Amino acid sequence: MTDPAIELNRVTLELGPRRLLDDVSFTVGNGEFIGVLGPNGAGKTTLMRALLGLVPPAHGTLRVLGQPVTRGHAAIGYMPQVRSTPAAQRLCGRDFVACAVDGHRWGITLARGRTRRAVDDALAIVGALALAGRPLAELSGGERQRLLLAQCLLGQPRLLLLDEPLISLDPNHQAGVVELVRRVQRQLGITVLFSAHELNPLLNAIDRVLYLGNGRAALGTVDEVITPPVLSRLYGAPIDVMRLAGRIFVMSGGVEIDKRDHAHEDDGGHSHSHSHSHSHSHSHSHSHSYQHSAAPGPGPDHLSMARQPDHALARRGIHDV
Ligand SMILES: Nc1ncnc2c1ncn2[C@@H]1O[C@H](COP(=O)(O)OP(=O)(O)O)[C@@H](O)[C@H]1O
Ligand SMILES: [Mg+2]
Repeated sequence: MTDPAIELNRVTLELGPRRLLDDVSFTVGNGEFIGVLGPNGAGKTTLMRALLGLVPPAHGTLRVLGQPVTRGHAAIGYMPQVRSTPAAQRLCGRDFVACAVDGHRWGITLARGRTRRAVDDALAIVGALALAGRPLAELSGGERQRLLLAQCLLGQPRLLLLDEPLISLDPNHQAGVVELVRRVQRQLGITVLFSAHELNPLLNAIDRVLYLGNGRAALGTVDEVITPPVLSRLYGAPIDVMRLAGRIFVMSGGVEIDKRDHAHEDDGGHSHSHSHSHSHSHSHSHSHSYQHSAAPGPGPDHLSMARQPDHALARRGIHDV
């Protein structure tokens, strides 16, 4: 059996005074496509940065592809949440992708020899060879996402961390990006963490959901995680889940929660959130080995939720699932 793609064992992540994850354990199997959701500020970006070795855990251990986390892990491709590229507008698609290899030569004619082949391979995988010669300034948001994904694929990563790739894309482009990532993920047999503040665009693509909130994490299928008990616990407030015409709406006090959280933030800020269900998910077509938390901590292993000293929740009768 191959090593899991990601293992968190009783991990606590803190930023300054804020505790974002509190004693969280979970395992992501190789070849899984995981949607990462949770309210704004829940720690989606911080988790990805921790997997890159940029945020050391206050407690616990993180492993990626069977090894302790290290900075600059060659097998991880990362698309950061903030991706403004004003200086790149004049570059053509191929040189923009090549910048990820040769950033110091930004703006000059970059792609030569080996680099050029690697860049063209990445462009081909994402179906963007036709964009190679076009200036970035002329491309749509969806086309730029295609190039950003090509950048992430340089170096042949086994794990992709994509932080909010759907931000500021219209719904058609969102669907296109999700389908593209799914296709590439399957074709290459790699693992993907894809954060988003809306679940619905991801519903038909993801194997499982990792939902963060309130210092906890729930990992499971949509049916397991997107449920009122699990989400109420993650939000620290009563949550309703409504399903309508193949879509899922997570509601708090009659208001759809991701609309509330993200109403003002589509300009490259953060985002997040949603509803779902959880459960055991052993039925995907991949080789998950996971799902059992190595942690001896509280709570079940297939759906690991971090503890939090929230007595109010306990009073409301919300328990670990
Ligand atoms: N360097 C920092 N020091 C203190 N707090 C930070 C720092 N960076 C981010 N934060 C805060 O930590 C929280 C988690 O941020 P983030 O991981 O970006 O959440 P998400 O991606 O889920 O929206 C946010 O409230 C953010 O403002
Ligand atoms: Mg974020």
